[in-house]
Amino acid sequence: MSQDKLDFLDRSRAFWNPGKTQDWQDMGIDLVIDRREGYYLYDMDGQRLIDLHLNGGTYNLGHRNAELVETLKAASARFDMGNHHFPALARTALAEALAACAPTPGMVYTAYGSGGGEAIDIAIKTARHAMQKRKIVSIVKAYHGHTGLALKTGDDRFSKLFLSEDTVGEFIQVPFNDLNAMEDALKGRDVAAVIMETIPATYGFPMPQEGYLPSVKSLCEKYQALYIADEVQTGLMRCGEIWACTKYGIEPDIMVTGKGIGGGLYPIACTLFTERCGGWLKEDGFGHISTGGGAELGCIVAMKTLEIVQRPEVRTLVRFISDYMREGLEKIMQQYPDFFIGIRQHGVVMGLEFNHQQGAKPVMKHLYHNGVWAIFSTLDASVLQFKPGLLMTQADCEEVLRRVEIGIGLARDEVMGSYRRSA
Ligand SMILES: Cc1ncc(COP(=O)(O)O)c(C=O)c1O
Repeated sequence: MSQDKLDFLDRSRAFWNPGKTQDWQDMGIDLVIDRREGYYLYDMDGQRLIDLHLNGGTYNLGHRNAELVETLKAASARFDMGNHHFPALARTALAEALAACAPTPGMVYTAYGSGGGEAIDIAIKTARHAMQKRKIVSIVKAYHGHTGLALKTGDDRFSKLFLSEDTVGEFIQVPFNDLNAMEDALKGRDVAAVIMETIPATYGFPMPQEGYLPSVKSLCEKYQALYIADEVQTGLMRCGEIWACTKYGIEPDIMVTGKGIGGGLYPIACTLFTERCGGWLKEDGFGHISTGGGAELGCIVAMKTLEIVQRPEVRTLVRFISDYMREGLEKIMQQYPDFFIGIRQHGVVMGLEFNHQQGAKPVMKHLYHNGVWAIFSTLDASVLQFKPGLLMTQADCEEVLRRVEIGIGLARDEVMGSYRRSA
């Protein structure tokens, strides 16, 4: 590691975040991202990495996508964030564009946050207002963000730290793919909404069982609860449709999109909801105020992002990339059947399963040292999140697979070696 990087890491520990800076060093990842271009990241010491983390889809269209950069530059010649209190051309135009591709007929309204967590908070507030009930049901190991209400729907590793865990029984969690538990949680008819990541990302992309999500939606209808779809990671064509919930036949009452909608250039997140849920907008339009939420420059970038991801050629590319990666990964899996044991996949939402509780961590490390950046799943470290970009070329995919084959082999030797040593 260069002296410059060592010095920088010291400053990062001193002034930014000692815990986070050190954790990465402890995991053997000394990444400090400098230049970025397309699907490539360049570490400050010059190493090139292919980005398969994409920050959960933030960089679906690549880093500094040329069309998006041009859009942002052109827009900044006339607009800025705007005044969040007033009607604004870009905010309304993006809301119209979202209504036109919304997963549910009559999903007319969009409220804006500056990040996914805030948009989830808006979704929960909206549901509570519409149903005049307080309880929210989420999935064990769900991740919906770290803001006030979103935090309460997730793992208590994060809420307890800040004394923010639910102490009054308003946030109920049930296991994924367990309809009995879901029905038990709903049958008191006192739940405002169920919030579901269509495929839980931070939990390592376990796939919903056949019929599970539609049955959850039916239970919501039966017990007068709303269905909130969190499409922050699964939306924007990653599953081969603009919204993954549509692939599962779900018409949510409320839907949240974030991350990739800002094209990796301007943070923005959106909460879409139906007329039925939008009562608060009429009762008190100032009910949710956010200076940065729905910033006009972000709205303009988001409109371009929406347009790009809906191009027919992007849909075709996503299908190609997901089939190509699948085929290549299956071959790699056959080489290391005692370690690399499964592929979870819907389109370019992918999780690689290893037969060791922490198996994805050595894989992440060896991939990193072999030019690929992909991250383990925070709430299930046996699974590596493997997230190819929507616009990757065949050459990119080939290079990824070549490097992944080497990285997984080395990780397997490390893990199996430590088994043997401890036996
Ligand atoms: C599914 C899901 N929902 C919500 C969020 C929160 O988004 P943000 O980090 O922009 O607040 C995340 C972030 O990782 C996410 O993965």
